[in-house]
Amino acid sequence: MPSQNLSPFSRRSFLQLSAAATAFHMVTEPMLAAAAAHRPFTTDGVFIDSNENPLGPGQSARDAMSAIIPQGGRYCDNLTDDLVHTFAQLEGLNPEWVHVFPGSTPPLHFGVVAFTSPQKSYVTADPGYEAGMHAAAATQARVVKVPLTKTYAHDVKAMIAAAPNAGLFYICNPNNPTGTLTPHADVEYLVENKPKGSIVMVDEAYIHFCDAPSTLDLVKAGKDVVVLRTFSKTYGMAGLRCGFAIARPDLLEKVMNAAGWNFMPITAVVAATASLKDTRLVPERKRINATIRQETFQWLDRNGYSYTASESNCFLLDTKRPAKQVIDAMAQQNVFIGRVWPVLPTCTRITVGTHEEMEKFQAALQKVMRGTVAFSMQPETPARNLRWHSRLLS
Ligand SMILES: Cc1ncc(COP(=O)(O)O)c(C=O)c1O
Repeated sequence: MPSQNLSPFSRRSFLQLSAAATAFHMVTEPMLAAAAAHRPFTTDGVFIDSNENPLGPGQSARDAMSAIIPQGGRYCDNLTDDLVHTFAQLEGLNPEWVHVFPGSTPPLHFGVVAFTSPQKSYVTADPGYEAGMHAAAATQARVVKVPLTKTYAHDVKAMIAAAPNAGLFYICNPNNPTGTLTPHADVEYLVENKPKGSIVMVDEAYIHFCDAPSTLDLVKAGKDVVVLRTFSKTYGMAGLRCGFAIARPDLLEKVMNAAGWNFMPITAVVAATASLKDTRLVPERKRINATIRQETFQWLDRNGYSYTASESNCFLLDTKRPAKQVIDAMAQQNVFIGRVWPVLPTCTRITVGTHEEMEKFQAALQKVMRGTVAFSMQPETPARNLRWHSRLLS
């Protein structure tokens, strides 16, 4: 959940920056969640609005962080090298093709800055994760939003057709907010048939929740592909900040030229390395998430709700009425659910929380949808991000 000491003013005002200023202002999931929320800054409640992992870091990561604290007075860049080598070895990659960042937001943002311009469009799915669109605003690139297919996959043929001048195609797989997959063959088709000079950015933030193959094989094959990974989701390290960009060195260099370089926090780095070496962590978390997601889906089925067939830790719920009303009414029950994508105004995103959190979600949803509690839409004010949000997303 978003930090408590970031004031509502700063949460909202980051969205009102000039195009030049936005070149350096990355937009992250908690910012987007907070921008859309009418909620107090508190930890008391059910927070299933930001696709966080309620389990936090695994035990091996916690132990590694405790052990490194005495060295916190030093930069210890060798620890970042260890992380790169550990990941490269596990994935069969050349370490030169891997770069570590504080989360995957920086390479997403600066990758878009590097590969788009007023002449080179940013092409994304609708509904899709919005951060790249904000980065595209910094380069004044045209944002081309292409509806997902009927099965909520990226419509790669339509994406190619919609932007012969594309600079960057953004594929989020599994997709945020739907949790649905785009087949590997479709990503391959996009890579082989995209306009010359463009690149495909594949955001694999949620890949460890599902069984789908990664597109790292396309990177290894030397294609025009940048893959993003993060430790924020399955590994439960969103607040610790660690992620990767993986690409051919010439592509990586362009991202780095836009992003600049800095040292990583050593706590995040050792936690990430320990998590990668902990072979039980991902299967266990994947199983926990899938079990709770399945229980939630069974409950939704029994109660006649529609939702996207997610293979991730979030899904879209169709509330069959303006979803904003439901979000506000749920917040009154102290259950904070995700935002609305203007293309699907009756849907809202739900993050899969713990078993207990999802039980509270179900109880609150039943009250809200059966009208036991009154709907009361919070009024929009000019300062609210939703105004900006709908401008960008509509
Ligand atoms: C699709 C997607 N990509 C990237 C991110 C960025 O995550 P982080 O910067 O925490 O790695 C998020 C966060 O929710 C996300 O949903």
